[in-house]
Amino acid sequence: TGHTALDYGFVNTASTKSAITYIDGDQGILRYRGYPIEQLAKHSSYLEVAWLLLYGELPTADQLGEWDEKIRRHTLLHEDLKHFFSALPHTAHPMSVLSAATAALSTYYEGQSDPGNPEHVELNTIRMLAKLPVIAAYAHKKSIGQAFLYPDNSLSFVDNFLKLNFGNHAEPYEINPVMSRALERLLILHEDHEQNASTSTVRLVGSTGANQFSSISAGINALYGPLHGGANEAVLDMLARIRDSGESVQRFVERVKNKEDGVKLMGFGHRVYKNYDPRAKLVKESADEVLRELGVEDPLLALANELEEIALNDDYFKERRLYPNVDFYTGVIYKAMGFPTRMFTPLFAIGRLPGWLAHWREMQYDPQTKIGRPQQLYVGAGERDYPTEA
Ligand code: CMC
Repeated sequence: TGHTALDYGFVNTASTKSAITYIDGDQGILRYRGYPIEQLAKHSSYLEVAWLLLYGELPTADQLGEWDEKIRRHTLLHEDLKHFFSALPHTAHPMSVLSAATAALSTYYEGQSDPGNPEHVELNTIRMLAKLPVIAAYAHKKSIGQAFLYPDNSLSFVDNFLKLNFGNHAEPYEINPVMSRALERLLILHEDHEQNASTSTVRLVGSTGANQFSSISAGINALYGPLHGGANEAVLDMLARIRDSGESVQRFVERVKNKEDGVKLMGFGHRVYKNYDPRAKLVKESADEVLRELGVEDPLLALANELEEIALNDDYFKERRLYPNVDFYTGVIYKAMGFPTRMFTPLFAIGRLPGWLAHWREMQYDPQTKIGRPQQLYVGAGERDYPTEA
């Protein structure tokens, strides 16, 4: 149209106004609904922050209690949905299983998924918060050949999730409060991050009038990529590769700087943060502590520390303002808890779910929302004739 600006990767283009999350990337500030992430991570809970993101204010104790109760009541999956897992190979990546099962979940609620019906929206918000963790845990159980456990609604959200992952039918499950608190904190840190690729995907899909299940399933797929949520898995793979290869950390960093084979320092860099990611700061602080409290010693943590130290003092990283992001240290903690590497990104997805749902609703209830439809600059062939026999 002559007015179309070209902006690869939307580096300079805002797609919406939003009142949910504030980021100052230069100063390393992150706030949900005005509350600093540091305070929420310290004092709040996953479900309380989810409420805050969704409804804009912290819940009263009664509101939180009622909501928690409602979510517990919706944890069961339809028995038929369990067959879905049997159709997939045990080697299936749990992110694929999670996105596919989330899309499949909508088939049980056809007729109750009208984006324009606030009661449907509310119910499906609760359904997803309750059931996606169960799906993720079942993806894990399937991959290790263990039976699915039923949710235990006498437990808190986080303990229920841990039990579904690590409990079994043979022994009573023992809650480990260190692990519960550590996971709760990590989930809070992931709950929202304004218009990142997966959230933008959720909004774009939602802008077409698609229901919440379809929109969230699309968001999970966007999160899967190694430049986004998949980075937490990629970091652990990178650390393990360095350890196993015997290559020095210095030499690895050299290869990154020379962009040899496109190798990157995974868990470093961010589109918005040009300073230490405030989430990474909190994760790093707790990594030492959690490993110590869980009685786990992992040389990969020392390796990560060494990598960070070298990178932060290197001109390549300084000039480009590359700092550790949230994914750099989370994997070491998830590993210490006993999660296999391939569960790291599903954990990110469970963390981010409240943010996706909050953005979907903000988009849905904003009278300014239009279908998302970017422009392009056409650079292909001019008009030409299809060749016909003379
Ligand atoms: N290692 C080495 N070089 C890097 C890295 C890295 N991790 N990140 C950026 N650079 C370089 C990049 O090559 C470019 O250099 P040059 O100017 O010489 O071409 C410069 O820094 C600017 O980077 P960019 O790719 O233009 O930045 P972007 O905003 O498009 O990408 C990013 C942001 C997060 C995709 C990128 O930093 C990256 O690929 N990081 C590694 C993957 C990762 O950790 N992702 C998790 C992001 S945080 C949580 C989440 O969203 O899931």
